[in-house]
Amino acid sequence: MYKYKYHIFCCVNERPADNPKGCCKRKGSAEILDYLKGTVHEKGLKNEVRVTATKCLGACSHGPSVVIYPEGVWYTVPTIKDAEEIFNKHILNGKPVDRLFMKR
Ligand code: FES
Repeated sequence: MYKYKYHIFCCVNERPADNPKGCCKRKGSAEILDYLKGTVHEKGLKNEVRVTATKCLGACSHGPSVVIYPEGVWYTVPTIKDAEEIFNKHILNGKPVDRLFMKR
């Protein structure tokens, strides 16, 4: 049985600035990760929600990339405000945020 209600993977992969693939870290993903981890801690959800930093998820040009399981929803999360919306709607209320679904 799955231990957590939600498992959030946040890409913090970094490449050199001149790399044509780009990377999530240069688009602010470390701040998104900090927000998600901090909010889980603040709300006392560490036994229900796990946030894991990852290397490249293979969607570099669409990042910052965040994937939430068990649904397997892929998000593009450009700002902390967007991360807040995902947390409040998806994690706390079980309603994925369609407008931030990754377009691949
Ligand atoms: S660098 Fe984040 S998905 Fe590739």
